[in-house]
Formats: sequence, C-alpha cells, structure tokens
Amino acid sequence: VCKNGGRLFHSSARYPLGIAFDIDGVLVRGGQPIEGACKALQQLFVDPQDPCQIRIPHIFLTNGGGVPESVKALELSSLLGVKILPQQLFLGHTPFKTLKDRFESANVLAIGKGEPCTVMSSYGYRNVVSMEEYVEHFKDIDPLAKYKKWSTNNDIRKNTKNVYSSNKAIDAVFVVSDPVDWGRDIQVLCDVLRSGGYPGRSAGNQPYLYFAADDLEYQAAFPVERLGMGAFRIALESIYNGISKTPLVYTSFGKPSVPVFRGSEIALLKLAEIVKPDVKHGNFARLYMIGDNPYTDILGAKQAGAPWFSILTRTGCFKGEDNHDQYKADLVVDDVLEAVQYIMKEHK
Ligand code: G3P
Ligand code: MG
Repeated sequence: VCKNGGRLFHSSARYPLGIAFDIDGVLVRGGQPIEGACKALQQLFVDPQDPCQIRIPHIFLTNGGGVPESVKALELSSLLGVKILPQQLFLGHTPFKTLKDRFESANVLAIGKGEPCTVMSSYGYRNVVSMEEYVEHFKDIDPLAKYKKWSTNNDIRKNTKNVYSSNKAIDAVFVVSDPVDWGRDIQVLCDVLRSGGYPGRSAGNQPYLYFAADDLEYQAAFPVERLGMGAFRIALESIYNGISKTPLVYTSFGKPSVPVFRGSEIALLKLAEIVKPDVKHGNFARLYMIGDNPYTDILGAKQAGAPWFSILTRTGCFKGEDNHDQYKADLVVDDVLEAVQYIMKEHK
C-alpha cells in the first residue's frame, strides 16, 4: 500500500483526471522510444522509479500484445525509464481474461507472434495449444512448409501441461497477437473452423473465434503503416466465406470497441485507488486518450463519450497538418510530450 499518495488528488470521490497512452506510434516506434516519450511519462510521477508515487493515474492502452502484461510492463519500464506495473497494461488480448470461465477447460488454439500460449495460460485457460505445436499433429496440412527456409519457432511446447492430441476438437480459436505466417494460419484456420474443430473431417459447427484487435494498419519502424490484425481478419474472412457454406462468425476486441474503453476506465480507477486508498468508488472528471490512429484511438474515445477527451499525435499513423477528416480529435499535437504538457496545464 502506498503511504504517501498522489499529491494532485483532491479529497472528493471524483478523480480529476486519468490518462490512457497508446503505445505504438505514440510512445514507441519499431522497438525504440519516440522522442519526448520518456520525459512525458516522468511528469506523471513524484519519483519515476516508485510506482507508489504516481501523481496522475495512467495506463497503456494498446491493440498490440503477444506476451503477458507482467512481461510487457518490464519491457516498457526498461525502454521508457519509468516503473510500470502489470495492472497499467491493457493489451489487445487483456479482455480474453473475461472469457476464462467459459473456456477454462475447453480446447483452445492460440495464434500470433510472441508467446500466445503463455498469455492464455496466464489468464487461467488450461488446455491451450499454439499453432506451431498444432500443425505438427497434421501431416501435410501446410503443403508449402517444405519451401520455407525459416521457422517461426513460436511458443512451441512451452505449455507443458497441455493435454492436446489430434483426436480432440478445437472448441475456440484466439488470435492473441499478429499472426506471423499468414498463409499457413489462414489455411489451418479454414480447416479448423469449417470442420467443427477437426481438420480433415467434413463440415461441422464453427468453433468460437476471437481476435484481440481489429486494426487495419499500425505504425512500426517502416515509414508507411504496416498491416495489422484487422487486415489478417479481412483476409481470413474473405477466403473463409469463399469456401464455406456459412459466413465466418467472430468477435474482435481492442480499440475502438467501447467495452475496451470502459475496461480501461475500471483499470484506471483501480490504479487511482492503489495510489489513494482512502478514496473508493470514484469516477473521473476527465479521461485522456493519447493516440496516433484516428480509426482506433480517436474513434474509440469518441464512441466512449464523456469524460473521454481525445488527443491525436503526429508521430504515427496520422501524419496530417490539421485534424483527421473523418474522426476529428479534440486536440491534435506534434507528439506525446506536447500532449502531456497540455494536460498538466489544464489541471494545474
Ligand atoms: O500490433 C500493434 C498494433 O496493433 C497497434 O498498437 O499501441 O498503436 O494500439 P497500438
Ligand atoms: Mg498506435
């Protein structure tokens, strides 16, 4: 429990402000901090190395992921030079926690870069198999495998408690992070989804399908935006609907979905209560979403409505002079430092 509390808090049950930071294109680009990011975050602390001394509750709301929140918190802390707690991370796949009770004992196929099985196991899912491990049970399922001089070597056999064998049906598929081998993954997903979870067998009911996010593009190191999980979903859906008698049924999480912004609000409230434990059941007078993507960050904040206030930076997907023509932010700034400076001035 923090003893010295956040000094900016008032004694009423309403917190003055909270901030949700997008990661890719706002704080980080291609694995490196964006200019001004470290300085911007330092301003939110009394002491940047002591999370108990947070002055302004803030979380990191990203559509990315692929590792557990605790791992991402450590990665970001070392990259950005401030102490970040796992509960400050709201990743694309964080809402998968809420489905755990439903699929705890189900056979789950987890897909994506990084450690998708480890992520799902950390949420309490018990029978999870990665795509890499799964395809090994089906000879010739990927006819192009022999032409690949590389291996994704992704999260394979890390889930030692996994009891999967090829005579069990897959009940649910979770796309946890950006798929690495689109060709193989689309082929195998079509097999799984149209066979009732038994590749190679005839048609059956489609297993459940969840995507952690649906962003078409995001900003990485390359100057032009890269294709995101939403692009993969479109490719899969288009192909699946061409070969299946019934259209693909799925659920996507991530920004701009409104429940994700509500979930962020709860995460911010919990954080504020850690910092100032004597204030319970509060809400926020103002919540800021600082993002680079009008279609996810800005649209999401707009859909969530008050008390959300959207700030669009020019360090990522958005590169325009004025405001985005379709999804106008409440404020457009050059970078995250300018955004935080604006916020600090507003709440002096
Ligand atoms: O893969 C990352 C991408 O989907 C977007 O991340 O932090 O801009 O929401 P972010
Ligand atoms: Mg972004």
